Amino acid sequence: MTETGNRRQIKLGAVLTGVGGPSQFNTWLDPNIPSNASIDINWYIEQARIAEAAKFDLVFIVDSQFITADSPPHYLNRLEPLTLLSALAVTTKNIGLVGTLTTSFNDPFFIARRFGSLDVISGGRAGWNVVTSGDAGTAGNFSLDEHYDYDTRYGRALENVQVAQGLWDSYEDDAFPADRETKVFLDPSKQHTLNHRGEYYHVVGPLNLSRSPQGQPVIFQAGDSEQGRDLGAAIGEGIFTHAPTLEAAQAFYSDIKARAAAKGRNPDHVLIVPGVSVFVGDTDEDAREIERVTQLADGGFEQSLAEFGRAFAWHDFRQYDLDAPFPAETLTYAERGFYTQAAKIVELAVEKKLTLRQVIETTSSPRQGPFVGSAETVANEFERWFEQRGLDGFNIHIGHPDQFARFVDEVLPILRARGLFRTDYEGTTLRENLGLPFVENRYTAAREELEASFADPEEAEQEPLLPAR
Ligand SMILES: Cc1cc2nc3c(=O)[nH]c(=O)nc-3n(C[C@H](O)[C@H](O)[C@H](O)COP(=O)(O)O)c2cc1C
Repeated sequence: MTETGNRRQIKLGAVLTGVGGPSQFNTWLDPNIPSNASIDINWYIEQARIAEAAKFDLVFIVDSQFITADSPPHYLNRLEPLTLLSALAVTTKNIGLVGTLTTSFNDPFFIARRFGSLDVISGGRAGWNVVTSGDAGTAGNFSLDEHYDYDTRYGRALENVQVAQGLWDSYEDDAFPADRETKVFLDPSKQHTLNHRGEYYHVVGPLNLSRSPQGQPVIFQAGDSEQGRDLGAAIGEGIFTHAPTLEAAQAFYSDIKARAAAKGRNPDHVLIVPGVSVFVGDTDEDAREIERVTQLADGGFEQSLAEFGRAFAWHDFRQYDLDAPFPAETLTYAERGFYTQAAKIVELAVEKKLTLRQVIETTSSPRQGPFVGSAETVANEFERWFEQRGLDGFNIHIGHPDQFARFVDEVLPILRARGLFRTDYEGTTLRENLGLPFVENRYTAAREELEASFADPEEAEQEPLLPAR
């Protein structure tokens, strides 16, 4: 964890979603946002530069590949994350570049090559947000009849990441002498073939790409089920999640850190960075009004009803009587969708005996978030959640540009004055800025350990170490 003096500091990400995220149907009407922002690379470059000037750790690009006519505008027409981030890599210098790629529909060789390339292009600023895809219909775009069940989804995810990490170590850091005098381009002893044969993937390797200055891209993970949490604890270095209340955030925080520790990992190297919305006003009342008006403007009952089925594999809830008890049996549709989210909704509906209309109203009506108020109030809440171990940082959903500007101009100076946020980047790589260790090449590490054991005659008796990670 990055510290200034002895002070633990807040990590900040900017989630860039062009004309709006989930349930934001009318954000695109804001005259300060280009109506094609989601496919306008200049818009992304501008936002990334604002975030970089404010010393944000990273920009974060979420993604999905299945839509219907009822999907919100950003989903209907948006750029592919790695292509987008490559453009940001050459137009920014310090900020981290984190993209979402699903393990359910991408082979690890392809993933390792693409993120490895982004990492090399950006000089060690890449991060991969590992997801398994909540939209069941995505399967239909990848030659499958149906999405994988949860155990398979998460089993594939773990193996996929482990293979990608293996491929990223294909070359040791000094594998390419590229010496024109001796005419030696490659030192073949520093090139390694993975030869992976697992449950889901057979990958020989090596990857045809050297490592970046941070060794390997930073691994993020998003997915809150038991299986998702175990995956995050196993491979995540940043966890993207929801944080509705401080108590819920604290419970998630300690759960993930405990799971990581139980797997033999340093819990400080698993950063919890939930996605949050921030509204800043002149006073607390002013900010609440901005929040209310913004949320009201973003949807409507009909749109919410149409979009509601997303968590349930886009099951169409318009076929049900709005005023009858909520059809709880629909949870079965979510088994290959966003089950954790759908199960919470159904649980609430059953417990409170809600009708479908009431469920739609409850889930779509304006809700008071925790990070809303004057700049001072927002800074206080950021500090409280951070100090009370609800999180290690915030992934801020960047919606309306005027609010992004107010956060940067009014809230950040307060956090800086309190020593809670950096005044300048600590390093040039994403790992350095997040306070995460450089990933040493496993073959280099194994060789060094072997050499050290030969230097120590007692250890030389023992079995030679094999690379294991
Ligand atoms: C905060 C958060 C953000 C997510 N972002 C994405 C995303 O951008 N793209 C995607 O395909 N899935 C995303 N997911 C979905 C996960 O990949 C997962 O498939 C889905 O949440 C269902 O798994 P779960 O029950 O373990 O949460 C996200 C999940 C969470 C909790």
